[in-house]
Amino acid sequence: MTARIVPILPETLAIAAEILSEGGLVAMPTETVYGLAADAANSNAVARIYEAKGRPRFNPLIAHVSSWAMAEREAQFSGLARTLGEAFWPGPLTMVLPAHPEGRVSDLARAGLGTIALRWPRHYAASALIEAFGGPLVAPSANRSGHVSPTRAEHVAADLGDRIDLILDGGPCPVGLESTIIGIESGEAVLLRPGGLETSLIAAKLGRAVHVRSHTDAINAPGQLKSHYAPRAILRLGVTKPEEGEGYLCFGPDQGGGLNLSPRGDLVEAAANLFSMLRALDESYASIAVGPVPDEGLGEAINDRLRRAAVRDPE
Ligand code: TXA
Ligand code: MG
Repeated sequence: MTARIVPILPETLAIAAEILSEGGLVAMPTETVYGLAADAANSNAVARIYEAKGRPRFNPLIAHVSSWAMAEREAQFSGLARTLGEAFWPGPLTMVLPAHPEGRVSDLARAGLGTIALRWPRHYAASALIEAFGGPLVAPSANRSGHVSPTRAEHVAADLGDRIDLILDGGPCPVGLESTIIGIESGEAVLLRPGGLETSLIAAKLGRAVHVRSHTDAINAPGQLKSHYAPRAILRLGVTKPEEGEGYLCFGPDQGGGLNLSPRGDLVEAAANLFSMLRALDESYASIAVGPVPDEGLGEAINDRLRRAAVRDPE
């Protein structure tokens, strides 16, 4: 059985909420990437997520909420966390916070940690689904483990269609990169994963620099597998001239051939195209050369994803 792909309508949202309350899995669009949603409080449903994704281990998942009331039932907010939430929620920001002792999110979804990752998405379909369901939904990116994140309903269908119950089609994801993950450690904001919200905007809001987790810490932390985003093809980065017969992913004006992330050199457009272009090239080439992308603004997150995609999975 392949999951039905349906448009976002009051009827389909009601069906999706029903599936979720029975412990099923629903792919939903968010502004960043498509998420594979399940009832965050139901450990059986959460276990089905790991099974469907074929995750090598129980990485902690992000719980998605649609109001402050829902967020405050699950996590304890410091002043700093509240400031960031008020500035950037709903939106592509995830915060790792101390879990509320009476929170409903299952231990399995938190991988047994005392913390919880929370996000309030901006996409109307995601917030409408959370509202219709009436509680937090955990949702990792709706791809099999080790594949790139899906930014279109068809990507989800190709990767997971036979393992899940329903796919809500909200068209292409406007941001195209996963959320930025911020942890709060000793009262300071720490960048755990660069993403769709530019780090500089967070620093500007706080009036101070955001610390970056060192690379070694990042791969030791759960869920920070270095090659999480690996496509099948070999990736060569920073290449200005691809080899004969090699796929080419480039950026900016005056590039010959290949797929261009943004011919006008716009990093926002490049982020939105990144995963679908990587997927398209991965289908046709054994090796993909990637041209340089400036390491500023969203380029920081784009280069992070490209570096991860270039590392072969050791498992
Ligand atoms: O944009 C996004 O964030 C998407 C959409 C669907 O919301 N979701 C997403 O989920 O990218 P996922 O599971 O692919 O990535 C979640 C990341 C993982 O690297 C995980 O280790 C980290 O969040 N994470 C979750 N809970 C954590 C915690 N308590 N401490 C540290 N990292 C955590
Ligand atoms: Mg993912």
